[in-house]
Amino acid sequence: MTFRDQINTSRLPRHVAVIMDGNGRWARRRGKERVFGHHQGARAVRKVIEAAAELGIEYLTLYAFSTENWNRPDDEISALMDLMIDSLNNETETLLKNKISAKVIGDINRLSENVRTKLLETIEVTAGGTRMKLVVALSYSSRWEITTACRRIASAVQKGHLRADHITEETVNANLETAGIPDPELMIRTSGEKRVSNFLLWQLAYTELYFTERLWPDFGKEDFYKAIADFQKRERRYGKTSEQIAENN
Ligand code: FPP
Repeated sequence: MTFRDQINTSRLPRHVAVIMDGNGRWARRRGKERVFGHHQGARAVRKVIEAAAELGIEYLTLYAFSTENWNRPDDEISALMDLMIDSLNNETETLLKNKISAKVIGDINRLSENVRTKLLETIEVTAGGTRMKLVVALSYSSRWEITTACRRIASAVQKGHLRADHITEETVNANLETAGIPDPELMIRTSGEKRVSNFLLWQLAYTELYFTERLWPDFGKEDFYKAIADFQKRERRYGKTSEQIAENN
């Protein structure tokens, strides 16, 4: 039996977020440059998008480039940006055909003009896609996102549009990059690292975390299905007791 067969498609997580880690190590183990790992990583991205869309996942968020990744060597950064443009050029048509709409979260002003233009173009042409939303976290970090939200909210208070004692969790949600997107129910991280690394810190409050030793370029559809099947075995309590959960079911 495959992991795909173990999945109950009527109880899928609506939103799955992924930290795609281990491209560098995958390449080094083969005596290759890190960039080679990123290229293979892009193939894994394609497979996981396909698996998620086929299953009926509504939102898939992929951590493609963190704020901290700007500290990597210049040639690795530019190779990653070139790969991003190539992927957008090659895959926009497939996204359109499969009714997948793209969205980006992150500080896109730090991206070069050509990457930003290509990205905004893909977002615009795929905007009508209703089957799945693909959220790409690019130049993203959660602390940057929360800090930016604080600035916006403080500015609204300063201008007299909002009272400080009227600020609620919804106010914060509405000012995050992920406004309008439900929190992820499942977060997957590859390569054996068991950290959240400045990714969706607010949104992951109740998220089930799934860690696998698999390096990202080796992560395939069955690995994705395995993570979903594992998620479905867990009991989500949101601070309630097991008895309260049983009563509601
Ligand atoms: C982590 O591996 C991966 C990244 C920093 C980049 C992720 C990019 C891709 C998977 C390719 C392209 C993406 C898209 C959306 C087209 P690492 O370099 O940190 O690996 P290491 O921890 O082994 O060094």
